[in-house]
Amino acid sequence: MKAIAVIPGKPDSVHLVEMPKPSVDEIADGRGILVKVLRVGVDGTDKEINNAEYGAPPPGSDFLVIGHEGFGVVEEVGANVHEIKPGDYVVATVRRPGQSLYDLIGTNDMTTDDVYYERGINLRHGFLSEYYVDDAEFIVKVPRGLKEVGVLLEPMTVVQKGITQAYEIQRRLKVWRPKRAAVLGAGTIGLLATLVLKLRGLDVFTFGRTHKPYLNSDLVEELGAHYVSTSDTSVNDFAAEHGAFDLIFEATGFSPIVFDAMQALAKNGVLVLSSVTGGDRMAEVPADKINLDFVLGNRVMVGTVNADRSYFESGVQDMSVAVLEYGDWMSKLLTHPVAGLENYRQLFETLTNVKDVIKTYCEVGD
Ligand code: BGC
Ligand code: ZN
Repeated sequence: MKAIAVIPGKPDSVHLVEMPKPSVDEIADGRGILVKVLRVGVDGTDKEINNAEYGAPPPGSDFLVIGHEGFGVVEEVGANVHEIKPGDYVVATVRRPGQSLYDLIGTNDMTTDDVYYERGINLRHGFLSEYYVDDAEFIVKVPRGLKEVGVLLEPMTVVQKGITQAYEIQRRLKVWRPKRAAVLGAGTIGLLATLVLKLRGLDVFTFGRTHKPYLNSDLVEELGAHYVSTSDTSVNDFAAEHGAFDLIFEATGFSPIVFDAMQALAKNGVLVLSSVTGGDRMAEVPADKINLDFVLGNRVMVGTVNADRSYFESGVQDMSVAVLEYGDWMSKLLTHPVAGLENYRQLFETLTNVKDVIKTYCEVGD
């Protein structure tokens, strides 16, 4: 079968490889599932991997099959898989267990190990191939009615984890009734965070660099949320003028904005950071002021990465409600399909150089 791979450490090494088709027998105890891949989304992480800034191949391999935002259909299951059957639509989780206590209880996303295993990213092959096999433990069923948007489930889980963690942390308050939320960034993650916070009943302000109107700001407004351009006002100036935020979800990829966000938080508020920023940017900040306000206002800031199985399941639920509430809104995020694994150059070209992209994805099979 064909797959798209990179040679980690070698910039712009993306290429097509030929590999044996995997078999359900590779997984112990009859718990294997063979998935025919239908669509795979790509994002900034794939870009960084192809730029050789990130990622490692599985032990014994000199290449890494990329792709962590998979969506496929089950072709075959092992003898002890009863919860999923051939013909079901599925998405696989990304991170695989390591050694820490958190890995042992199924929360691999909270690992304290230094080494982590992520399919398509670090030490494990990904999903940009015609087929993959995995343990039923890591495969989540997607309802038929979500098949057009199922490829958005993995990015959705990043949002699910961040927002769920925020609500978990706020149980410290006994009563927390958040009213105003800010989402920083209007890309795929920012738009999905806007959606989820609207579904939770908050008044949401989504900040992006570009001036409205454009597709992303239209999509924000279709949800009944507000779009604000950071080219006109910073998030902290906006908060000072119009009111501070109970919850802020940061997903811009631009780390200095974190310090603006820290100053836009309401008393008892929570700031969730989700951008993976591999660079070495520096920033000068009003440290005393930020610290004082955090202390005097009992504010919280939390980082979040990856997602365990429970967030894939809650993601499916929110996506289902989103279809009931907002119709085909999610499908409008799927702006740039690229047909066929052999067009991997075009996939990366679209991801890197085309303007007005929300989600680029490969149509692997049908
Ligand atoms: C993926 C996460 C992953 C993170 C860090 C993101 O692009 O969506 O699943 O944990 O990169 O590798
Ligand atoms: Zn990703």
